[in-house]
Amino acid sequence: MIPAPRRYHITTFGCQMNKADSERMAGILETMGFQWSEDANDADVILYNTCTIRDNAEQKVYSYLGRQAKRKHEQPDLTLIVAGCVAQQEGETLLRRVPEVDLVMGPQHANRLQDLLEQVFNGSQVVATEPVHIMEDITQPRRDSTVTAWVNVIYGCNERCTYCVVPNVRGVEQSRTPEAIGAEMEQLAQLGYKEVTLLGQNIDAYGRDLPGVTPEGRRQNTLTDLLYSVHDVVGIERLRFATSHPRYFTERLIRACAELPKVCEHFHIPFQSGDNDVLKAMGRGYTREKYRRIIDTVRHYIPDAAISADAIVAFPGETEAQFENTLQLVKDIGFDQLNTAAYSPRPGTPAALWHNQLPEEVKADRLQRLNHLVSQTAAERSQRYLGRIEEVLVEEQNPKNPAQVMGRTRTNRLTFFPGQIEQLRGQLVPIRVTEVRAFSLTGEPVETAVGERSGMLV
Ligand code: SAH
Ligand code: SF4
Ligand code: F3S
Repeated sequence: MIPAPRRYHITTFGCQMNKADSERMAGILETMGFQWSEDANDADVILYNTCTIRDNAEQKVYSYLGRQAKRKHEQPDLTLIVAGCVAQQEGETLLRRVPEVDLVMGPQHANRLQDLLEQVFNGSQVVATEPVHIMEDITQPRRDSTVTAWVNVIYGCNERCTYCVVPNVRGVEQSRTPEAIGAEMEQLAQLGYKEVTLLGQNIDAYGRDLPGVTPEGRRQNTLTDLLYSVHDVVGIERLRFATSHPRYFTERLIRACAELPKVCEHFHIPFQSGDNDVLKAMGRGYTREKYRRIIDTVRHYIPDAAISADAIVAFPGETEAQFENTLQLVKDIGFDQLNTAAYSPRPGTPAALWHNQLPEEVKADRLQRLNHLVSQTAAERSQRYLGRIEEVLVEEQNPKNPAQVMGRTRTNRLTFFPGQIEQLRGQLVPIRVTEVRAFSLTGEPVETAVGERSGMLV
């Protein structure tokens, strides 16, 4: 009898960085002969790629893990892996807390999964959390989409925002070379991918750790240089990048985005707070005025650009008046989308030790008030699409309506329209927008003359 193939399951928590790491780890498991299992309960190897950005993200991991740890008592050959940011934060402590775990591996070790698993199969319990130089990956990631892809350009973060656990768990900045990034993009184009999002926690820091200055004394290998160097990969139609830091977001970068046709008109630039004293306590290195100037410059060069951001409410010591400065900034800018969160104290971060923590009721109240405002401003921003023709890159069927497909505009608005996914996946389709909601649009395909630009009023 042929033995049944061994199966693996990955659950991914957290940000795009984790999603990209999971795709690479899935690729490694498949080269090792494992097959994907949608249901964790049918898998022989379960990998949780974890997030610890806020306490609730961390707690979720333990509840998932608890269930599988129980299952391991009936199925001792089950392999349990905890990867990602909780793994890095907890290290051996995690093994003491959940002894059923076989492998604890930090994000910098994602590409070493095969090596680490072999040690597990040889009978060891393994913890891999020491800082390492991230190897270039040679395996093929198993990507979730066949249309859009993530490409890491810089790992880690050298900032020290006082609330943030990322530098502790992701380590120091490590940029990939433009050659490695370019090669990955060429390969993606050959596989038929249409859109690439370049990824980094602080993507504006790209290249700081790479050598090279221009004859004029300017640092080479900036994000702007990278955009120019990868722009012409034939087949890739759209380029995005995230996450931008206001401290380093330059006019040169904005001009490049305006000039390069494949760079989409959407910018994710977290501001975190609209109050200068709170920004200072957060260690962000910019003021509300500087943030507004950046957005003005973006809109000067790219008037229709969509702007999204992240914000934290109820940071330690934040007064009602300071919170209202955040509300005011949200009104002034008119964000297309905003990820909001109540401050959560994180281990090993300065702000967690401060004595001016705010009560849960204040956190919940401010979060709710901010979210309410965000849905209003997003709905207002959506209005401008009504009746316009937008270019939509089709990604998937609408899971709630099989007669529709869905994709994104260049400005990153999720858009639904009637059509068959088999015919349309990966196509750029001009869509007349007929219905707008705060965070999504509905439309219908239109015939446009060749070369007609999207974003036109009709
Ligand atoms: N590198 C990006 C964001 C990284 S983390 C940046 O600099 O903006 C993603 C988001 O999580 C942050 O933008 C922030 O809004 C939120 N976040 C980070 N730490 C947090 C904490 N301790 N409590 C609440 N939200 C937090
Ligand atoms: Fe965290 Fe600040 Fe780095 Fe963003 S820039 S990952 S918020 S430390
Ligand atoms: Fe979470 Fe780690 Fe990303 S903490 S937000 S998965 S970098």
